[in-house]
Amino acid sequence: ILRSVLRGSGSYLPAQIVSNADLAKKIDTTDEWIVQRTGIRERRIAAEGETTATLGLKAAQAALADAGMDASEIDLIIVATATPDNTFPATATQIQAELGISHGAAFDLQAVCSGFVFGLATADKFLTSGAAKAALVIGAETFSRILDWEDRTTCVLFGDGAGAVVLTAEPGTGTLADRGVLTTHIRSDGRYANKLYVDGGPGSTKTVGFLRMEGREVFKHAVVNLAETVRHTFEETGLSGDDIDWFVPHQANRRIIDATAHKLGIGEERVVITVDRHGNTSAASIPLALAEAHADGRIKRGQLVLIEAMGGGFTWGSALIRW
Ligand code: ACO
Repeated sequence: ILRSVLRGSGSYLPAQIVSNADLAKKIDTTDEWIVQRTGIRERRIAAEGETTATLGLKAAQAALADAGMDASEIDLIIVATATPDNTFPATATQIQAELGISHGAAFDLQAVCSGFVFGLATADKFLTSGAAKAALVIGAETFSRILDWEDRTTCVLFGDGAGAVVLTAEPGTGTLADRGVLTTHIRSDGRYANKLYVDGGPGSTKTVGFLRMEGREVFKHAVVNLAETVRHTFEETGLSGDDIDWFVPHQANRRIIDATAHKLGIGEERVVITVDRHGNTSAASIPLALAEAHADGRIKRGQLVLIEAMGGGFTWGSALIRW
């Protein structure tokens, strides 16, 4: 059988740091409120001229360098984003062109904060079926451009950034000892569209629109759905929280992460946290966290990494990877 083996990871963050204190100068909020409710201390905001495609390109180049691979080896590019620079063409084809590739296929995938998990699951199907040989899965977002900067209940939560991984199809044995993506689970339930959405688009207001959210409702569903998707992973593999070397959750909120890790029996020392410095970067948060924990030597080859996410739609999902 074929496995999608993780060959490299990379990330890119805009240079501009906006702290909670910076936000408190413009809106009625405090560092204390934001830290207590979310764990966020600061976030990065894209400069003029930086776009979802330019962030994603830099993350992709870093991932290719980490993998020791040339862009010409890639035949599938999936960009998970809810903030494409244009309605079309896809951000993925823009990045494909910037990478100098004109073969293979590139497309965007929209599952909001779950986008990276959905993108990884999709790439895994292409690679393990033999339909592609080497894939870039990129999460890239510029949420700063869809935030209502006068709405303190949402604008303090998000940030900009991009992360990417390179995967190649390699022969495996079909056991959990294999390197690569071992299992993925993705779900959605469109009945909850109005809990977290953007109030614009060509078919509605004809403006880009702003992110709107019922925070409490999202929080409640997140903890339940995330535990459910990981339970499927554990049931399928016979593993438990004890077996996981690194838990790399979507970075929306420290309280959601802590509650989920506790439910799964994963100790704090095995949880990768970036939300304090990145805020919620939507589809970019998991690959950003993976790249950071791999670059600083925490995630090592052969270790078991569990990722999970939940986002607008609702969408949610998880994946188990042996690095
Ligand atoms: N600064 C100060 N006060 C604020 C702020 C702010 N930035 N935002 C809201 N408040 C006030 C509210 O107005 C409210 O005041 P009131 O009691 O006078 O009406 C009070 O704080 C409490 O508001 P709640 O919304 O009830 O606060 P809660 O404890 O639920 O925390 C939060 C809000 C942080 C948004 C929380 O609900 C949450 O984390 N939800 C999950 C949302 C999320 O992470 N979404 C990301 C996308 S989905 C995903 O990735 C999982």
